[in-house]
Amino acid sequence: MLKGKKILIGITGSIAAYKIPLLVRLFKKEGAEVKVVMTQCATDFVTPLTLSTLSQQPVLIEPYNKVDGSWNSHVEWGRWADVFVLAPVSANTLAKMANGVADNLLTTTYLAAKCPVFFAPAMDLDMYHHPTTQKNTDILISYGNHLIAPNEGELASGLCGAGRMEEPEAIMEVIRGFFEKKNDFKGQKVLISAGPTYELIDPVRFIGNFSSGKMGYALAEELAGRGAEVVLVSGPVGIKTLNPSIRLISVRTAAEMAKACFEVFPSCDLGIMAAAVADYTVQSPAVQKIKKQEGRMSIELIPTTDILAGLGKMKKKQQFLTGFALETENETDNAIKKLQNKNLDLIVLNSLNDQGAGFGTDTNKVQMISSAGQVKETGLLSKVQVAAEIADMICLIRSKT
Ligand code: CTP
Repeated sequence: MLKGKKILIGITGSIAAYKIPLLVRLFKKEGAEVKVVMTQCATDFVTPLTLSTLSQQPVLIEPYNKVDGSWNSHVEWGRWADVFVLAPVSANTLAKMANGVADNLLTTTYLAAKCPVFFAPAMDLDMYHHPTTQKNTDILISYGNHLIAPNEGELASGLCGAGRMEEPEAIMEVIRGFFEKKNDFKGQKVLISAGPTYELIDPVRFIGNFSSGKMGYALAEELAGRGAEVVLVSGPVGIKTLNPSIRLISVRTAAEMAKACFEVFPSCDLGIMAAAVADYTVQSPAVQKIKKQEGRMSIELIPTTDILAGLGKMKKKQQFLTGFALETENETDNAIKKLQNKNLDLIVLNSLNDQGAGFGTDTNKVQMISSAGQVKETGLLSKVQVAAEIADMICLIRSKT
């Protein structure tokens, strides 16, 4: 699939550089042409000879050739590439890229590059979490660069946490996915709900749930990546959106989520309700913090609006509505009841009985059931992969109606 693609790899000074020869091999095996530019510091971690042998191309480090004085053109290499993959990116190079500092061949090539840029940071966890690094990462994303986020795990320092460069196989998949990218949601406006809701008891306490929002955010990125304009109505979560085609509306309570969804849905082609919305809210939240008292206390709860059912009622013929069902017993029967009662086109069933599926995890396993009776099950996949499966299923159903 990468046959004939021109891939420029940029390597900076990080221990993860030792993994890049494998990345070069993976790209070459897929039929890509590969060139490597590296910083002087990167040569302490991996030799140019290894990289030039594997890429079958000269490796560039300096802006000019010290022997004959000839110029190594950063402009030419930046324009040659179909994609520029910077991996690993140290905190130092990340800061330079974010601020337009062009003091070596790699950073000048980055500034001159016309092609999409992917960057895979690798550093110690405290460096990665430092506000400066986070800000620089955000700046790079805001310029349209694609972050290949580091993993959590054991770091060279012996510490454990986020900062470990994504593995070469996974980087290759990201690049392959980029070239295979479908554009089948272009021109579509999509409403997605995600995350939990918080129902206030008093100014400092709430009733919430364990939803991480990861499934809804993965759907938002997937559909935006496939050309959709996405409005993401999200309860409180700790995730950032990456694609600039996602408009985020942050809400806290079920009532706020309902208001935003009912306002946005009429102008949408598609709705996907992945939020874990509270079914009940506190009848009269206290204005002041509730003080401890002797004996028991009780809180009167009243039902919230069922957003999905409300959208099902207002749905026009050309609109497509997808809901989620989280079940612990009689899973399929309960999901089909929700599909019918809420007037949905598709329901995505998670079972809490499946290991690795449901709240908080990075993985999920779902069964999808359409109103026309089509059924598809996924195995245990990452939530990103499940999002792609759901998007494929929506396309399939719509192509048949
Ligand atoms: N949902 C919603 N508004 C609510 C409750 C749920 O939009 N007030 C949506 C969820 O986003 C999800 C679907 O309804 O897409 C099903 O949520 P779930 O909690 O599984 O089902 P409920 O309909 O709440 O029924 P129950 O909790 O009894 O299983």
